[in-house]
Amino acid sequence: MEEIKLDSLGNWQRSHYCATVSEKDVGEEVTLMGWVQRRRDHGGVIFVDLRDRTGLVQVVFDPSISKSAHERADHLRNEWVIAVKGKVRPRPKGMENPKLPTGYLEVAVTQIKILNTSPPPPFLIEDYIEVGEATRLTYRYLDLRRSSVANHFIKRHQAAQAVRQFLDTQGFLEIETPFLTKSTPEGARDFLVPSRLHPGKFYALPQSPQLFKQLLMVSGFDRYFQIVKCFRDEDLRADRQPEFTQIDMEMSFVNEENVMTVSESMIVYLCEKVFGYNISTPFPRLSYDEAIARYGTDRPDLRFDLELKEITDIVKNSEFKVFATVAKKGGIVKAINAKGGARLSRKEIDDLTKFVGEFGAKGLAWIKVKGTEWQSPIVKFFSEGEKAALAQRLNIEDGDLILFVADEPEIVNESLANLRVELGKKLGLIMENSFCFCWITDFPMFEYDAAEGRFKSVHHPFTMPKEEDLPYLTEAPEKVRSRSYDMVLNGVEIGGGSIRIHRRDIQELIFKVIQVSEEEAKQKFGFLLEALTYGAPPHGGIAFGFDRLIMLLCGCESIREVIAFPKTQKGTCLLTDAPSYIDQEQLQELSLKLDVTKTKVSQS
Ligand code: AMO
Ligand code: AMP
Repeated sequence: MEEIKLDSLGNWQRSHYCATVSEKDVGEEVTLMGWVQRRRDHGGVIFVDLRDRTGLVQVVFDPSISKSAHERADHLRNEWVIAVKGKVRPRPKGMENPKLPTGYLEVAVTQIKILNTSPPPPFLIEDYIEVGEATRLTYRYLDLRRSSVANHFIKRHQAAQAVRQFLDTQGFLEIETPFLTKSTPEGARDFLVPSRLHPGKFYALPQSPQLFKQLLMVSGFDRYFQIVKCFRDEDLRADRQPEFTQIDMEMSFVNEENVMTVSESMIVYLCEKVFGYNISTPFPRLSYDEAIARYGTDRPDLRFDLELKEITDIVKNSEFKVFATVAKKGGIVKAINAKGGARLSRKEIDDLTKFVGEFGAKGLAWIKVKGTEWQSPIVKFFSEGEKAALAQRLNIEDGDLILFVADEPEIVNESLANLRVELGKKLGLIMENSFCFCWITDFPMFEYDAAEGRFKSVHHPFTMPKEEDLPYLTEAPEKVRSRSYDMVLNGVEIGGGSIRIHRRDIQELIFKVIQVSEEEAKQKFGFLLEALTYGAPPHGGIAFGFDRLIMLLCGCESIREVIAFPKTQKGTCLLTDAPSYIDQEQLQELSLKLDVTKTKVSQS
C-alpha cells in the first residue's frame, strides 16, 4: 500500500458528535471527527459512514464540491481516523436510512484530514457480528468501539452518578479507604502485595472495605459510602471477577429496617432514573429458612412460581424403597410440579436427570399426568392414600410433570433449586425484562465446616447475632441467627449486609465460637477490638455488587459485558497478558525467591 501522509489536527475543533447532527443544522458547516465505519464508492462519489461514541453520520465526498477532499477520501479504509468539515444537507429522496437517527441527513465534505490509519481490524466493528470472546478480550479496545458493547458503559456511568446523587441527598459521605491493607476475612483468599521496605511482609488487597467502614462509624462520620474496587482470589464464574466493584455503605444508630429502606430507595431511584424501570416497593421478604424450604436456595428467582414441596412425611413408609430408605436415614424428599411439563419427552426427562446429577442427585423420579392417568416408573409403588396425599400437596392436574429428588437436604435443595431455574427457562416461564427483587433475612450466623472441624461465619464475623439467640452462642451455635440481609434480583445475590457488633465483649465471643484464638484475634483484628472500646456507636450497612447489578439491569448474561477490561474465567487479562512473570531484579528487591520446581522465571 502506498505510504499515506498523515495530517495533524492543527487548530480544528470538533463542532458536533456524529450522531448529534440534526435537522436544525441543515445548511450549517460542521466539523466532525471519528472512525471510518464503511466506505462506498458510487461512481465517483464516495460515501463514508463516520462513527464516534454517539453513533454514525454519512459524509459525502463529491469531486464537484472538493476535488482534493475526494482524492484524499479515495485512500480511506475501515477504522481510519479522520476529521472532516462540510455542510449539512438533507439526503436526496429515496436515499434516506430510517434506521439511523441521522439517516435523513448527510454532510457534504469540503475538507478532510486523515489523522491515522489502521490495518483491517480482526473483526468488523459492527454490532451484529458474532465474535469469539477470546478475540473480543484480546482486542477489547476495538470491541468497545461497538455501540452495543459501549452502551453498557454509558449506563454504568449513569448508574454510578445516580447512586452518588441519591446517597448525597441522604447525607452519605464518600470516603476512600486503603487498597494496600491487612487481610479482612470475607471468605475468599487474599491477593497479596509484597512490601519492598519491609522484607518478608505483605499487604493484602481488600476483599471489601468492611473494617475501615466500621472504623469510620467509630470516628463519627455517621453515613459513609464508596463505589470501590474489591479483590478476591476465588474461583470465577459468569457473575464473579477477581476484582469487582461494590457500592459500599455504612450507617450509625440504625437497625435492619433503616438500612433496608434506604437501600430499596436507592435501587428504585437508580432503576427508574437510568433504566426507566418502575419497581414497586417494599420488596418481598423471606427468611432464610423459608427461602430454602420453598426454593431450595437463598437466591430465589421470583420471576416465576414452581415452588418446591417437601413430601417426606407422605412417602416415608412407601413401598418405593429409594424414598423410604432416604427418609429413614434422616434425608428428605422434595418435589416440583412443573405445570404443563407433561409434554416433555422421555429424552428431555433423561436430560433433566443428568442435569440434577451434576448437583449430586442420584436420580430424578417423575410422574407425567395425562388426563387422569399418572405415567411413571414409580407410581406402582404408591398406595391409594399416598397418591391422594401427593395429589393434594402438589396440586396435581392434567398436563403436569412432577419431579422428585430424595437425598440429604443439601443435595435435594441444591439440585431442585437448579432444576427449578432450568425448568423455568425450558418451559418459557421467565418473562424477559422483568425485575423481581427480594430480601432474604434471618440467615444462620454460623455454618459447620466439617473439613476444618469448626464453625465459620456465614456472612462475616463482624455481624451481630440476634439478641434472642445469644443464649445459644456457646452451646448450640448452629441455632444462632444473624442480623443480616441479602438483596436478590432475578436469582442473583446483588447485595448483602448486616447490623454489626459494636461491643468488644460480643466480638470476642464470636471469635471464640469460630475458634479464632485470642492471640490470632489480637494480631489480625486488635485494632478493631481496641476501636470498639472507644465509644463505637451501634451501626450497620450493606454492599452491593455494582457489576452484577448493572449486568442484570442491562440484560447481560455475563459480568464481563459490563467491565471494561475484565479477566477471563481463568483470571487472566488477554489484552495485557497479566498475570506475568517478573524479572530477577524485581524479585530481589522484594526479597522473594521463587520455588523453581513450581514456577518459571522470565529470562529477561
Ligand atoms: P459480600 O461478600 O456479600 O459482602 O459482597 C457484597 C456483594 O458484592 C458482590 N460480589 C461480587 N461481585 C462480583 N465478583 C465477585 N467475586 C463478588 N463477590 C461479591 C455480590 C455481593 O452481594 N463487607 C460485606 C458487606 C457488608 O456487610 O456491608 C461484603 O463484602 O453482589
Ligand atoms: P431405580 O429404582 O434406580 O430404577 O429408580 C427408579 C426411578 O427413581 C428412576 O426414575 C430414578 O431416576 C429415580 N431415583 C433413583 N434414586 C433417586 C433419588 N435419590 N431421588 C429421586 N429419584 C431417584
